[in-house]
Amino acid sequence: MDKKVDKTFTEDFEYTHKNPYHDKLSEYEGFVLRDHEAEANRGKWNSEVFKRDAELALEIGSGYGHFMLEFSENNPEINYVGLDYRFKRSYALAKKLSRHPHQNFRYLRAKGERVEYMFDDSELDKIFYFFPDPWPKARHNKKRLFQKPFLERAYKVLKPGGYFFIKTDHDGYGEWMKEVIENQDLFTLEFSSTDLWNEAPEHFLASFKTKFEKIFLGQGVNIKAFVLRSNKPS
Ligand SMILES: C[S@@+](CC[C@H](N)C(=O)[O-])C[C@H]1O[C@@H](n2cnc3c(N)ncnc32)[C@H](O)[C@@H]1O
Repeated sequence: MDKKVDKTFTEDFEYTHKNPYHDKLSEYEGFVLRDHEAEANRGKWNSEVFKRDAELALEIGSGYGHFMLEFSENNPEINYVGLDYRFKRSYALAKKLSRHPHQNFRYLRAKGERVEYMFDDSELDKIFYFFPDPWPKARHNKKRLFQKPFLERAYKVLKPGGYFFIKTDHDGYGEWMKEVIENQDLFTLEFSSTDLWNEAPEHFLASFKTKFEKIFLGQGVNIKAFVLRSNKPS
């Protein structure tokens, strides 16, 4: 495993792009934050953004937003932040979110690697990470988000006892995650399965299917799942 830290993780990282959807996303400035904009809200999500005390959840890689739309609609009492860095996908999701019945969410066009610049220590209750890009070629494995440096940041921003929920279709990435989890002591592995829908159909993680999950299940792929709980002392 490559131990090199991605520069996206660093304080002085700058987003650079010329994507026309960056400007188009400003149509939804009431709830969309682009690039570094979200970082100004570090430590203030509940008090100044949502203006209410509530559980704060983050989803990394919302994609077309099936989980974000459903979960935030079914759980109006939760403050929900979804993020993804793909522009066209973000714009498609923002359009759908603009018709959402509640105001309990924000959407970030941002990189998951920057979680500690967007959220203060112990600010988050939950992180969701579903069907991340698996980067299957060995020379690309280092691009996988789920590595020790990221886990350390997730630990920082999660509250004591905070949860990190993960699902993947990819055997190689599932094995990789298992190895990362076994080699750390920041989180306790509370649940894991290599065949979620057959082994644990009653589990929370089997109570919804994301867009990509439906495709993978249709191909007969077993879904790998993990639930990590922070060991941070309270
Ligand atoms: C395979 S899709 C899964 C989307 C959705 N979670 C689902 O299950 O339908 C992976 C998504 O993660 C996003 N993504 C990958 N790496 C990311 C990162 N480092 N930060 C933010 N988003 C990322 C991609 O742009 C893509 O939309």
